[in-house]
Amino acid sequence: RRTQDQILTDIRTLKHELSHEIILLAHHYQQDEIVAIADIVGDSLKLAQEAAKIRNKKYIVFAGVHFMAESADILTPPDRVVLLPEPKAGCPLAEMADITEVESVWRTLKDQVDGKIIPVTYINSTAVIKAFVGRNGGTVCTSGNAGKIFDWALKQGDKILFLPDRYLGENTALAKGIPPELIYHLKGDMLNPVFQEDIHTAKVLLWDGYCSVHRRFKTEDVAHIRKKYPGVRVIVHPECSHDVVAQADDSGSTEKILRQVEQSKSGSVWAVGTEAHMVNRLQDMFPDKTILQLSNPGYQCVTMSMTTPEKLHHLLSELSKGHVIHQVRVKPDIARDAYTALNKMLDITG
Ligand code: 13P
Ligand code: SF4
Repeated sequence: RRTQDQILTDIRTLKHELSHEIILLAHHYQQDEIVAIADIVGDSLKLAQEAAKIRNKKYIVFAGVHFMAESADILTPPDRVVLLPEPKAGCPLAEMADITEVESVWRTLKDQVDGKIIPVTYINSTAVIKAFVGRNGGTVCTSGNAGKIFDWALKQGDKILFLPDRYLGENTALAKGIPPELIYHLKGDMLNPVFQEDIHTAKVLLWDGYCSVHRRFKTEDVAHIRKKYPGVRVIVHPECSHDVVAQADDSGSTEKILRQVEQSKSGSVWAVGTEAHMVNRLQDMFPDKTILQLSNPGYQCVTMSMTTPEKLHHLLSELSKGHVIHQVRVKPDIARDAYTALNKMLDITG
C-alpha cells in the first residue's frame, strides 16, 4: 500500500502531466490535502463564477458535492467535461427539495394563493430544481448574495417561494426587515399541501429543508464560548438557525467569514460556526489570531469529506490513461432552464 505522502506526490505529478487540459476546483469544506493542491479554492458563488470563466481546459475536476459539479457543467460550454472524484458525494440539503413535491406545491399555490410568486432556490439544490426555477421566472442565490436576490425578487412579484434551506431563507428575510409574521413555513405532506390563512399575507414562503451540519450549532454554544473567552467575536454561516445567527456578532458565506477573519487585527479571537475543516484551516492561515470552533471539536460535512486523495488519484490516473470516469452531465433540457436561472443570478449580482 502506498503511503499518503506517495499518493499526494503522485497526484502532483499527474496534475502536472495533465495541466494543459485539467483544472482542479475545491470548496473550502474539502479536506486540507485536497485544498492544498487545488488550482482554485472558494465558496459556492466564487466557484460558480470561476467555472463560468474557464476557457482553455477540457476537464474540470470538482472537489465538492454533486450540485456544485452540476452548476459547473451548466455554466460551461458543452465540450467541457466536469468530473466529481467521488460520485456519491451529494449535499443532503440539496436533496431535501424533491421536484415532484415542489411542483405539487407550486400548482396548489398558483391555484389557491393570490399574487405573483417568484421562486428562488439556494445554489445548494439539484439542477432539476434550478431548471424549475428558471422555467418559472425565478433565479438562484448563494449565501453570499441572498439579500440582493431577495430585493430583486420582491420587485418582480409579491412573494418569494424559497427552496430548499429554510434557515438561509428566514435569516435573509429577517435581515431585510421582513417581520416574522410575514414569513410562512411550509410543512406537512407536500404532495397534498394544505395552507394556513396567513399564507395569503406572507412575503416569503420557506421550504422545509436544512443543513444538518449547521443546524447543530445552538445558542448554548454561543453563550458558552462568550463566557470562556470574553471579547470573542462570533461569526456563523447563515445556514445556522436564526436564534444562533441573532446571538452571533456577524454571519456570512464562507468567503465572507474568511475575509472578516483576515481583515481583523492581530491577536483577535474568533469563534466560527461553520464546517470544521474550514475553521481549522483558518487557524493555520492566521497564526497571529485565535480561531475557535464555535462548538468543540466542530462538525464536519460527511459528504464533503468523501472526496479523498485516493479517489482524486484514481480519477487522475484513469484520465492519464484516456479513461474518463465519474463525469457529471446535466441533461440538455434541464441544463438550458437551469442556465437561465443561474445566469440571471450572475446578471443581478454582477
Ligand atoms: P457557501 O455558499 O458559503 O460556499 O456554502 C456552501 C455550503 O455548502 C454551505 O454549507
Ligand atoms: Fe450540504 Fe451542509 Fe454539507 Fe454544505 S455543509 S454541502 S449544505 S450538507
